Amino acid sequence: MFWFDKEHPAAVYMDCRELETELCDGRKLVIRPDVVGDFRAMPFADCSFRLVVFDPPHLRWCGEGSWMKAKYGQLNRETWQDDLRRGFAECFRVLVPHGVLVFKWNERQVKINDVLKLAPVAPLFGQRAGKTHWLVFMKGGQE
Ligand SMILES: C[S@@+](CC[C@H](N)C(=O)[O-])C[C@H]1O[C@@H](n2cnc3c(N)ncnc32)[C@H](O)[C@@H]1O
Repeated sequence: MFWFDKEHPAAVYMDCRELETELCDGRKLVIRPDVVGDFRAMPFADCSFRLVVFDPPHLRWCGEGSWMKAKYGQLNRETWQDDLRRGFAECFRVLVPHGVLVFKWNERQVKINDVLKLAPVAPLFGQRAGKTHWLVFMKGGQE
């Protein structure tokens, strides 16, 4: 949703699902990733990307048929911490040395500080807009 050019030739979109539906306000929701895959075990070789954007689901609770669930997906209530820990580890694995990870999180239900405990390193900087955080990490940028 946040890419200015949604057809940018350098972007590889990955999601675990494909979906085409209509939201309650009549807008179309199309989730058509280039790669269907799991962020806990990404189908990419080590050191494949200079830039990774990790935008996992942030909701632990949402209505079964809600537009929020359709649009953002939902965390697994039992395993979300381990899932995100594995997701972060995979982001760093597929980044080249000194590659950049941009992480987006909305802390409506889970505080950003609880999520940052799951990342292998601390972010370098970031920006907060309301409850949404954009954080920037670098692989090997801590030394
Ligand atoms: C916040 S949305 C991402 C929205 C996307 N950045 C955009 O702008 O359109 C989170 C997405 O993560 C996906 N997801 C949930 N668990 C996943 C997993 N284990 N691996 C890959 N994608 C997953 C959901 O299907 C959902 O579409």
